[in-house]
Amino acid sequence: MSTAVPTRVAVIGGGRMGAGIAQVFLAAGAHVAVVEAGGQAAEAARGRVADGLEESARRGTLDGDVETVLSRLTLLETPAGLGRDTDLVIEAVPERADLKAEVLGAAAAAAGPAAVLATNTSSLSVTELAAALERPSRFLGMHFFNPVPASRLVELVVAPETDPVLVDAARGWVRALGKTGIVVRDSPGFASSRLGVLLGLEAIRVLEEGVADAEAIDTAMELGYRHPMGPLRSTDLVGLDVRLAIAEHLHRTLGERFAPPQLLRDKVAAGELGRKTGRGFHTYES
Ligand SMILES: NC(=O)c1ccc[n+]([C@@H]2O[C@H](COP(=O)([O-])OP(=O)(O)OC[C@H]3O[C@@H](n4cnc5c(N)ncnc54)[C@H](O)[C@@H]3O)[C@@H](O)[C@H]2O)c1
Repeated sequence: MSTAVPTRVAVIGGGRMGAGIAQVFLAAGAHVAVVEAGGQAAEAARGRVADGLEESARRGTLDGDVETVLSRLTLLETPAGLGRDTDLVIEAVPERADLKAEVLGAAAAAAGPAAVLATNTSSLSVTELAAALERPSRFLGMHFFNPVPASRLVELVVAPETDPVLVDAARGWVRALGKTGIVVRDSPGFASSRLGVLLGLEAIRVLEEGVADAEAIDTAMELGYRHPMGPLRSTDLVGLDVRLAIAEHLHRTLGERFAPPQLLRDKVAAGELGRKTGRGFHTYES
């Protein structure tokens, strides 16, 4: 099993997750191309990666200086610009199957037949995304967690046609990033989102019914069950809009227990999206 990350990695979508994924591969020694939707978005993505690396340097967890690590980053405006020598492509564009299929198809055509393609989807069917690709055996889910640099888990999601050799390679890369990979069969919400989202939705229902306030609900799980972060704080971190989209998908695929509570819909409609907007179930200083 490999103990190093691939030499050339591409990340499509340099938002919260994509910038974090780019950061950890850069810090582990890879050359990383981030593909963003336009010049301004690309500059913003570079800023997120740079800020993340500065933060690691401040904490003393970065090998080398920020400038040297950042010199391995390139920004592209379309996957068509990826080199044929790309080893691994991870897409982290918004949670829409049509958009993911489009960028993965374009990346596969540019990167060539030897590249491994991966999706960071939290809930969409890896099997359906694979079906749209010319080489579905070269595709798997690599589900990173938020915030990527601090999180220790990557869920490796295996579709029926995924080549087992890829799963072994991905386990090695994840280990080289200092993280642990777990292997799960493709199924709605995999293992992590299915369990985490269900708890989050139930916490929102407990709040909605006036059983306890947000602080009390989070404290119940943090102190009572030793979760490092309560389910409402965790929903704020992920983003209420992101959680709602996942819940709607799991509601459609797994049934009523994932029906999004009205309070979640209301907060999203009001623009209370969690930490990123300063207010969700809790409030945050910017
Ligand atoms: N937020 C989380 O906690 C979390 C955790 C695990 C997985 N995920 C998954 O990761 C993915 C990304 O989530 P996020 O929270 O980083 O979203 P985000 O909105 O922060 O980032 C998405 C990025 O994709 C870019 N983008 C949009 N269209 C593009 C295109 N055609 N080409 C290139 N870039 C494009 C956007 O400009 C944006 O920067 C989703 O599939 C989500 O479900 C999110």
